[in-house]
Amino acid sequence: MGNWEFLHAFRIRDKESPVHCLYTSQIVETLLHIISLSTPGHMIRYTRVKSWIILLEVLNKKQTKQKCGSFRLGNLERILYNSNMKLHEPVMLTQVLSVLQPQEGENYLDLTGGYGGHASKVLAATRNYKDSVLVDRDETAVQVLEERFGEKGINIVHEDFCSAAQQLVESGQKFDMILGDFGVSSVQLDNADRGFSFRTDGDLDMRMDVRQVRSADTIVNRARERELAEIFEAYGEVSHGLSLKIARNIVHTRPIKGTEHLASVIAKSFGGYQRRHPATQFFQAIRIMVNDELGMIERTLPILEKLLNPGGRVALISFHSLEDRLVKQYFKADAEKGIESRYKILTKSPLTATHDEIVNNPRARSAKLRGAERR
Ligand SMILES: C[S@@+](CC[C@H](N)C(=O)[O-])C[C@H]1O[C@@H](n2cnc3c(N)ncnc32)[C@H](O)[C@@H]1O
Repeated sequence: MGNWEFLHAFRIRDKESPVHCLYTSQIVETLLHIISLSTPGHMIRYTRVKSWIILLEVLNKKQTKQKCGSFRLGNLERILYNSNMKLHEPVMLTQVLSVLQPQEGENYLDLTGGYGGHASKVLAATRNYKDSVLVDRDETAVQVLEERFGEKGINIVHEDFCSAAQQLVESGQKFDMILGDFGVSSVQLDNADRGFSFRTDGDLDMRMDVRQVRSADTIVNRARERELAEIFEAYGEVSHGLSLKIARNIVHTRPIKGTEHLASVIAKSFGGYQRRHPATQFFQAIRIMVNDELGMIERTLPILEKLLNPGGRVALISFHSLEDRLVKQYFKADAEKGIESRYKILTKSPLTATHDEIVNNPRARSAKLRGAERR
């Protein structure tokens, strides 16, 4: 680190903070943004080591060291809300609102509350917090949702959306709008400690709900070669031959110690230039398996019609073809029931993000939105 001096070290993994375990470049940028507001014309140097953000120097133009302000971790989430940095950018917000058409007084069920991006816009229009429900299986997301909406009397449920939907049916609740924005959040992806990304080293974890026992490590280091190959083929849509080859290489290299190690074992099995990182589909497959992502959607879709009021709208956003296929087939099977069908389809073909949105938020590139209205 040369002559750089440690001025402040921020430990992001802090049990007291609603954003514990968050380790994102957005936090670094936000801190730098705040510091630059209070120290205009200064240069800031920082480094990142695992879940630490270490501010090294604040230099003015004459290279004189200045002390920079410190930030309490508990205030980080407020800093994030008050700055132009967002924890997670909601995808296709305009299209979601055009499908859901929120009206004052209506109630809302968000199956994947995340960081409340979609929810805040819907609830701002309905102003009905007390009859609405936000669900997420991720502890960090739930803590942020509570921080954001808890005081308004909304029901926040820390549960997978399949169990939550079943419980809501049992309690006889119905909704005017339901949103499912499937997949992972940027916060999960960006946090190396959560193990979702092959771009940064972390534990083989990938659990959205850390109370769950099965993790990526269970699969990568314990599944049989054939099981691994089947997971890659089914959930990564990798060819049979390649799935077998990578599964064999993984089994021969075990124990696989972390995400970087796994990505390098996969990459070594490929030769030459690849348009995207060869680990992409394999990480997707393991993540889907760890979180039973497709099973959750498949079991929840038939429950939704029981949760919607007549005239109620549902919007479902998928991020890969396997998810979208389930949603598409569900609505198609319903349409084939003719006069018995439960839904009027609102999106003949799925809506996609605009070019401008994709430039600003590359996650939106693969998003597909399907909407329907309960008859
Ligand atoms: C794409 S993000 C949603 C972002 C949210 N719409 C927003 O605007 O902030 C997906 C969220 O769904 C959650 N999730 C994924 N599968 C889930 C499941 N089966 N049950 C509950 N939550 C789930 C993830 O933990 C993640 O926080």
